Amino acid sequence: MEHIDVLINNAGGTFPMVPAAETTAHDLRSAFEINTIAPLLVFQALWPLLQKSLRPKLIMMTSSVGSIADMEPVPGGAYGPSKAALNWLTRALHLETKDSGLVTIALHPGWVQTRAGQFVADQWGFPSEPPDTIESSVEEMLKIIDEASEETSGKFITQKGQILRW
Ligand SMILES: NC(=O)c1ccc[n+]([C@@H]2O[C@H](COP(=O)([O-])OP(=O)(O)OC[C@H]3O[C@@H](n4cnc5c(N)ncnc54)[C@H](OP(=O)(O)O)[C@@H]3O)[C@@H](O)[C@H]2O)c1
Repeated sequence: MEHIDVLINNAGGTFPMVPAAETTAHDLRSAFEINTIAPLLVFQALWPLLQKSLRPKLIMMTSSVGSIADMEPVPGGAYGPSKAALNWLTRALHLETKDSGLVTIALHPGWVQTRAGQFVADQWGFPSEPPDTIESSVEEMLKIIDEASEETSGKFITQKGQILRW
């Protein structure tokens, strides 16, 4: 493999969406391993190949649940803090690498009809399935990724292009 143009760190784990006061150390450690540390390690391993691209992009799949500024009144368990920390790393990587041309975004996919999306809906007692289909989410995310540039780099952004507060 000569180079990588776009690295999408998509894999993510779900954990019981319980209040912070009930979140276990075990779940926090697991969530940080999967949702925070692993994406950083994948980036670190593949950074040399990204640097060989003319327009490299790093996409960190995050969640609005990780927003501290706009925290919703629903419990985020270990998942929320693990995505908040991922957001921090994403912002730091943007600042540290922007001179080399890397476009780095923290991308929220919507609330999507996947295993994770349905798990969270069940945990929160949401009366129906998540609102966003996989097809619409993927189509919208691909547009955001294709159009990602120096202007969107370092941002926390939804699949619809809305800028979220950290
Ligand atoms: N769905 C939503 O509403 C929503 C909202 C906000 C953010 N997100 C984020 O979007 C991303 C994709 O989630 P999804 O909705 O597609 O969830 P999903 O259907 O549960 O899929 C999660 C993916 O992550 C992989 N994965 C989980 N733990 C892993 C581990 N320890 N090692 C390697 N791979 C692992 C799974 O692999 P296996 O299939 O092999 O288990 C699966 O491919 C995640 O980062 C999630 O946090 C989703």
